[in-house]
Amino acid sequence: MGIMSMNVYEPHEWKHGTKVAGVPWKNPVGTASGTFQLAACRWFYDVSQMGAISTKGVSPVPWEGNPTPRTAESPAGMVNAVGLQNPGVDHYLVDELPKLKELGATVVTNVAGHSDDDYAEVVEKLADSPADMLEINVSCPNVSHGGMSVGSDPKTLHRLISRLRPITDKPMVVKLSPNVTDIVSIAKAAVDAGADALSLINTLVGMRIDIRTGEPIIANRTGGVSGPAIFPIALGFVWRVRQALPDIPIIGIGGIDSGEKALEYLYAGANAVEVGAAALYDPTAPLRIARELDDLLDSRPQLAAKLAQGQTWR
Ligand SMILES: Cc1cc2nc3c(=O)[nH]c(=O)nc-3n(C[C@H](O)[C@H](O)[C@H](O)COP(=O)(O)O)c2cc1C
Repeated sequence: MGIMSMNVYEPHEWKHGTKVAGVPWKNPVGTASGTFQLAACRWFYDVSQMGAISTKGVSPVPWEGNPTPRTAESPAGMVNAVGLQNPGVDHYLVDELPKLKELGATVVTNVAGHSDDDYAEVVEKLADSPADMLEINVSCPNVSHGGMSVGSDPKTLHRLISRLRPITDKPMVVKLSPNVTDIVSIAKAAVDAGADALSLINTLVGMRIDIRTGEPIIANRTGGVSGPAIFPIALGFVWRVRQALPDIPIIGIGGIDSGEKALEYLYAGANAVEVGAAALYDPTAPLRIARELDDLLDSRPQLAAKLAQGQTWR
């Protein structure tokens, strides 16, 4: 189904919903953080049709992000080092979030910080907001403090999530990094500290070099690799975490560009998925994938029934 054959604003009766940590999603496909911006995406499709919208990471104050160039192409994917540029939580609360809720979207607000205090400040401000879920990004490889450094050590992560837990009743998703030797110990630390769900994976550290100059293409030198190239790697991470933690809701992320690939995540034990890089070369990809998956689930009633109840295939 391409953009020409899909009426992207036509009301759609979703056949197969899911639940993530008790929160109903109209379908199991969300947008992945950093690849969705309401002001741009609303011109391409009715964003309220997505299972959920995970928004760009928000920090306590506006962040400028990294110097440019920030992206490079790579086989079946891309490398980015945007550096969590965003206008800050106060702007998010008066601008993006109310507009998304007015449109009827289920919103997963992605939270960024350079320190425990940063994360706590953002979560406090979001506690009484209309956000449906919070997704704590402890896995960004492109910031010098916070981000991946928090999510690479079970003790540090446990400390952070234990501090955030009492601040909000909202379901808290912890977004994990693949740039670790033992993701299961990190996942367990997040769950022990009170995470309601896990999302994985964030990008893998990588880079490109310009052979005309011999220098890195991206100003930050290294960046995060995403897109179809990471699909089997990300799927393997979801599988391992599901095997170790049978009960925690999981959102699978990485390289999804079709309903079939989304379905593989559901069979690996995910409750839902998020689509990232695919939306950067085809803005309607998240909605197309959601509709493809909705049709694929018609002939898989056992899986569909489990998802509808908030359960998973394995
Ligand atoms: C340009 C860009 C910006 C991103 N920004 C964020 C972010 O702000 N917060 C976050 O948790 N993940 C961020 N990510 C990671 C994605 O949400 C996703 O985890 C990753 O790209 C893997 O999925 P994909 O292969 O479908 O892109 C970003 C990814 C890209 C490509």
